[in-house]
Amino acid sequence: MKEYYFDNSATSSPKPKSVLEKVQEAILEFNGNPGRSGYKKAIKIDREIYNTREKIAKFFNISNPLQIAFTTNASESLNFAIRGMGFENCHIITSVYEHNSVLRPLHFLEDEKNVSLSYLEPYESSEKLLENLSSLLREDTKAIVINHISNVTGFVMDIEKIGKFCKEKNLLFIVDASQSAGFLPIDVKKSNINILCFTGHKSLFGIQGIGGIYVEEGINLTPTLEGGTGSFSKLKRQPKVMPENLECGTLNTPGILSLGAGIDFINSIGIENITKHEYALTKLFIDEIKKLKNVIIYGDKNIFRGPVVSINIEGIESSELAGILDEEFNICTRSGFHCAPLAHEYIGTYDYGCVRFSFGYFNTEEEILYATNAIKEISEYILKEYS
Ligand SMILES: Cc1ncc(COP(=O)(O)O)c(C=O)c1O
Repeated sequence: MKEYYFDNSATSSPKPKSVLEKVQEAILEFNGNPGRSGYKKAIKIDREIYNTREKIAKFFNISNPLQIAFTTNASESLNFAIRGMGFENCHIITSVYEHNSVLRPLHFLEDEKNVSLSYLEPYESSEKLLENLSSLLREDTKAIVINHISNVTGFVMDIEKIGKFCKEKNLLFIVDASQSAGFLPIDVKKSNINILCFTGHKSLFGIQGIGGIYVEEGINLTPTLEGGTGSFSKLKRQPKVMPENLECGTLNTPGILSLGAGIDFINSIGIENITKHEYALTKLFIDEIKKLKNVIIYGDKNIFRGPVVSINIEGIESSELAGILDEEFNICTRSGFHCAPLAHEYIGTYDYGCVRFSFGYFNTEEEILYATNAIKEISEYILKEYS
């Protein structure tokens, strides 16, 4: 039976063939330790890794590729950023739509460093966004840490407007691009982003275990990890220069090269075509589901959103619904709380969660209609059985 994969917010599947081939090449051809030795193969690996830094830099409009460090995932990048900035006795603005990868390091600052937090809510217009930001701003506000696209409702934060606000108010701007990188274009200069955190295995099509962080020149993060870098070996502490400052131990060559191949794949399709395709699928899904009276769709149904739609069917637990979708229809979704407790509090599903459908470039209209028909069948059964 064909598998219908709608869990791309968790990790994209399938990966492009070119990514799989690159991973194989990395393991077969480039199996040496990068940045450590001077023989021909090691130099070739270094070059491949630098090429990937350049691809990422071009992709996000970053001037200096060496300001990008490879990490294991967005969670690590966000920890490096939030804990490494040395925030203390100050105030930070974040949002109700944050993932625990942002919330937990922020709560660490709250508990240990006397940092207070305020939470931006989704807004319906640019005027309202600025009004909300201004009302949260305090004299001791030092930074805004924001999730570009919600992994629960698909809400898209206007990072260009928020970045402009940060610049005007002299605040540091940290963006979690886990759900947006590879779906929407991101330009760190246009959006005044000081630190960009991303993961490689979602819309960037890399394999699991690779992520990255861009840190603007002039910002020095205190490294959370210290150890071998293959350079500055006589220094007693971690080098202060990027990327070594944040790259500790042997790099994940297969992961890095997979990320480079993922970006090549996106460029070959054109990111605007990816946005268009995934948005069309999302809209089709919502339009079909809207017709079912006992199905609840979370978030605003009428605005442009990321390819994420969370739903519930009245009268059935979200975990049971996801179970039926899997068992009866071979549909992969994610139920529960999606590591975003405040988002569930905000949309009113804190007690029971919801079922998330997240679409990817390889999904088709036919697959969407299969899913909406499955939901229709289940919702009609529930109505008949329980009314
Ligand atoms: C919005 C958001 N931020 C951060 C993360 C963490 O990404 P990773 O698990 O790759 O560290 C996720 C993962 O689902 C996410 O959706």
